[in-house]
Amino acid sequence: MADVTLHNVWKRFEDGTVAVKDVSFDLPDGSFLVIVGPSGCGKTTTLRMIAGLETITEGTISIGGQIINTVHPKDRDIAMVFQNYALYPHMTVRENLEFALKMRKTPKEERAQRVAETARMLELEELLDRKPKQLSGGQRQRVALGRAIVRKPKVFLFDEPLSNLDAKLRTQTRAELQRLHHELGATSIYVTHDQVEAMTMADMIVVMNKGEVQQIAPPMDLYERPTNRFVAGFIGAVGMNFFEGRTVEESGFYRFVETGTGEAVSLPLGQSMPEGTTEATTIGVRPEHFVLTDSSDPLGFEVVVKVVETLGSQTLVHFPSRNGLAIASIHPDNQPRYGETIRLRLLPERVHFFDGEEKRIETEQVSI
Ligand SMILES: Nc1ncnc2c1ncn2[C@@H]1O[C@H](COP(=O)(O)OP(=O)(O)OP(=O)(O)O)[C@@H](O)[C@H]1O
Ligand SMILES: [Mg+2]
Repeated sequence: MADVTLHNVWKRFEDGTVAVKDVSFDLPDGSFLVIVGPSGCGKTTTLRMIAGLETITEGTISIGGQIINTVHPKDRDIAMVFQNYALYPHMTVRENLEFALKMRKTPKEERAQRVAETARMLELEELLDRKPKQLSGGQRQRVALGRAIVRKPKVFLFDEPLSNLDAKLRTQTRAELQRLHHELGATSIYVTHDQVEAMTMADMIVVMNKGEVQQIAPPMDLYERPTNRFVAGFIGAVGMNFFEGRTVEESGFYRFVETGTGEAVSLPLGQSMPEGTTEATTIGVRPEHFVLTDSSDPLGFEVVVKVVETLGSQTLVHFPSRNGLAIASIHPDNQPRYGETIRLRLLPERVHFFDGEEKRIETEQVSI
């Protein structure tokens, strides 16, 4: 079994920088965990402590129930794939793949068999006799993956392995990694600052900010029930819109009105509000939770179109709000023009309410 457990783990560097603060999570054997967060939030440091490349200041890390804090990196049965491929330039692909096995004195026959198996899995068979400089970026990245896979480790650690690839190759390799994970079934921890990678690949996501865990949840839970404004803003292909203000009620009809100066939006919320939400100081609406509507709709509100982005599968419309431009994603059959006034409504059951501390106010979740 290779379940991985971090228990109240801290990392304080010699210069006093606290990179990881009290991080705990429990990763069941065979699952795929993604750690996501902005640059400098402590992702690589967490991974390096698991790999044994960095000492643990406080707390424990266990693999398969055994505490490994003081176990030498090479005895942890972990393989790490880095962002820069770290291939040996003077060795062929075959030699690069074989290297770790040679170091471990794996018998020659088994070595050949494992290299062949790995090359087949990653479609590297044709490239085995080439040197790294004769390969494309994507091929090099596959060799780097191969070097990890060939060892059959208990745990895989990936540190932004796709960030050197162009957009198309990244999407393709992302899918390949998912397939490989299902084929190999090894426990994997994958670090990225790209929330799309996190959402598409993970069984479970850990969102970090400034060394601290913000939330641990499966992808759709993070999307639907973010614990605070940070997570809400971080997860989502086009980010959530935030409106700051207060709820006002007029003859039993509620609307959220932006406060302060500037071009304020007044968002109709309907005739009832979930418990506790009238106290919200911020509401969050994802672009996909606005729809185009007409003048007969009591939940409609008018906005002036400032930017139109045609993506084919959807149209993004930007309109002014106190926080700058808000974005609504509408059906691509509609192509409003710059300066045009359109009528939108939001889906009240999909609105997120945040209190003064930026915590999300829990409401009865309406399932979709
Ligand atoms: N050896 C070190 N000494 C002191 N501080 C360090 C050291 N290594 C990293 N840090 C600091 O620790 C924090 C976390 O760094 P880390 O590399 O884990 O971030 P990250 O989340 O991987 O970021 P990125 O997305 O940019 O790779 C940063 O503030 C960084 O400057
Ligand atoms: Mg990093």
